[in-house]
Formats: sequence, structure tokens, C-alpha cells
Amino acid sequence: MKEQLDALAATLFAAVEAASSEKDLQELKVRYLGKKGELTALMKCLGALSAEERPLVGQLINTVKGRFEEEFTSRLAAVKGAETRRRLASERIDVTLPGRRTAVGSRHPVTLVVEELSEIFAGLGFQVAEGPEIELDFYNFEALNFPADHPARDMQDTFFLEGNRLLRTHTSPVQVRTMLKHAPPVRIIAPGTVYRCDSDATHSPMFHQIEGLMVDKGITFGDLKGILTIFINQYFGKGVGMRLRPSFFPFTEPSAEIDIACVICKGKGCRVCKNSGWLEILGAGMVDPEVYRHVGYDPDAVTGFAFGMGIERMAMLKYGINDMRYLFENDIRFLSQF
Ligand code: FA5
Ligand code: MG
Repeated sequence: MKEQLDALAATLFAAVEAASSEKDLQELKVRYLGKKGELTALMKCLGALSAEERPLVGQLINTVKGRFEEEFTSRLAAVKGAETRRRLASERIDVTLPGRRTAVGSRHPVTLVVEELSEIFAGLGFQVAEGPEIELDFYNFEALNFPADHPARDMQDTFFLEGNRLLRTHTSPVQVRTMLKHAPPVRIIAPGTVYRCDSDATHSPMFHQIEGLMVDKGITFGDLKGILTIFINQYFGKGVGMRLRPSFFPFTEPSAEIDIACVICKGKGCRVCKNSGWLEILGAGMVDPEVYRHVGYDPDAVTGFAFGMGIERMAMLKYGINDMRYLFENDIRFLSQF
């Protein structure tokens, strides 16, 4: 029995020595010292020995058990230490490395201008209104006093769709939609995307406008000039020269186009202003009584003005951009400057 015990102890300690993880060690413990363990089985046989042999063998078994406990504990510590070192090595990070930069976007200049203009007009009591980009002929033309077959329709090259629908050529249909929904007084601006069959350095087939409309009792052309003067001083800076030129729109009477002194040459004359010293920035006028009739307003009870400007044009003048196409090419080197 002693030989049996020596052999078992030899394999046991060799196995402890070879164990490379905590799991291996725990399995050894169960296999030898568990309820059905090999060493436990030997202890159960003690009863079959003679009275002289029993204490001797019992003592031997206890020695083996004691040594196992010691070796188990020290091996466990070694294995755990090795595991920790392995994990630390694999999780190592160099905190002195520079971090990864995230590319930061910026808002598009057209968006910036819309936001700035909206803020200026909000300060003057104008609320923002919106309308659809796919529009009915009625709102884009008919109700704005462009009768069918009227030559004024040629002023704007239109993309027509099926069923009396078209891509709106200006934001003026929002005037009609607003007046049909709300009784006077109204004071709105309507920023939005518009479309025309038009393309060169200063014309894009898709561009943006801001419409303005103010209708109430007793509104005069003087109010229009006053509001536009405040707006131009806030947007372009105080004391910028401004002039009104007679013009024509079917939905305003009288109509005017507003010019500002060229922001590049300050009115002396240059290539941008074609040596005139002036730059056109918007169309405006008093709302034509014919429009009021289409929306159910009484032309004898209220008066009002409307204006409309190109947003790309406003962005170009403010930021000194000399080709409108930069605004739509989405070149990150251009856009990141704003
Ligand atoms: C109009 O669209 C009128 N609805 C403006 C208006 C509103 C007048 C209310 C009276 C009362 P016009 O076609 O001139 O007018 O266009 C207005 C502005 O849009 C122009 O001054 C210009 O800045 C801009 N614009 C016109 N066509 C283009 C284009 N193809 N690309 C970029 N901007 C354009
Ligand atoms: Mg014009």
C-alpha cells in the first residue's frame, strides 16, 4: 500500500507542477482529494489494515495531503501571476500617443445666410412660413397675376411636371398659400429652394430665395423702403449705399429692384458690378390688388408689400465668392472656410 501511495504522490506532484491554469489545478484537487478522489479512496481502505500499519499509512497520507496543500497554493499563485502578466501585456496602451482627430464639419454658407437673414427679420416681427417645392401652376403663376399665355411667364424658365404641376420658380407662391390660410395682418418671410432652367457663373438650376410679405391696414411704399434699409444696414453693415429702380413683376404694382453700392469697389466701378458701381440684390413692390382678389382679401381694406431675394447672391456678396458654382460643388476645401 505504501508503494501505491508513493506512486500516486509522484504523479500528483508532477501534475501540480505541470498545471498551467487555475482551472487545471482545481480539476486536480477534485480528482485526488474530492469525495470520489484517488487519495480519498486510499484513506477509505485504512480500515482493512492491521493495527500497526494503520497509523503509519495514515500519517503518510496526511503528509501527502499537507504537501499537496502547500504546492497547490504556491502553484496557484504562480499561475495567477502569469495570467495577470499576460493580460496586462495584451491590454497595454501607449498613453503618450496622440489621439485620433474627428473631422469637424461646418454649416453650408447658404444655410448660414438663411439663418442670419431669418434672425434679422425675426427682429422686425416677421415669422417664418414654408411651402412645397413641387407646386401647382395656380400658386406659382395664376394667383400671382400671371394669366395663362401671358408673356411674363417667360421671365422664369420653368421645369414643368405632369398634371399642372411644376418645380416652383420662386418663393412667391408662399405669399398666396399664407394669405389663403390667414386673415390679415400677415408679416412673414419664406426661405426655400427654387428651380429654373438656367445655368452659368451667376445662375444655377437649383437655388434659394427668401420671400418677404407684410400686409395690414395702411402699409405704404415708405414702410417697404424702411424695412429694407434696416435689413441692408444689418446684413451688409451701416451706411452701405442703396437705390430703388423701377421694375416690373405681375404680382406687385408699383415694382422696384433694389441695388446696393458694390461691396467690392464701394461704388467706384469694377468687374463684379460691370463698372456700374451698383449690384442688384432683390425685387420688391406693393402687392397687386389682383393678388388680393385671388386670396379673398379686400383690396380696399388692406395694402402691403412683398420682396424676394436670391440667397446665393447674398452669400456671394457677403463672402466675396465670384462663382455661384462653388456653392454647389461640395468641395470640402471651399466649404470648410465657413
Ligand atoms: C423673383 O423671383 C420674384 N419672385 C421676386 C419678387 C418677390 C419680386 C416679391 C417682387 C415681390 P427674380 O426672377 O428677379 O424675381 O429673382 C429674384 C432673385 O433671385 C434675383 O435677384 C437673383 O438674386 C436670384 N436668381 C434668379 N435666378 C437665379 C438663378 N438661376 N440662380 C441663382 N439665383 C437666381
Ligand atoms: Mg431680377
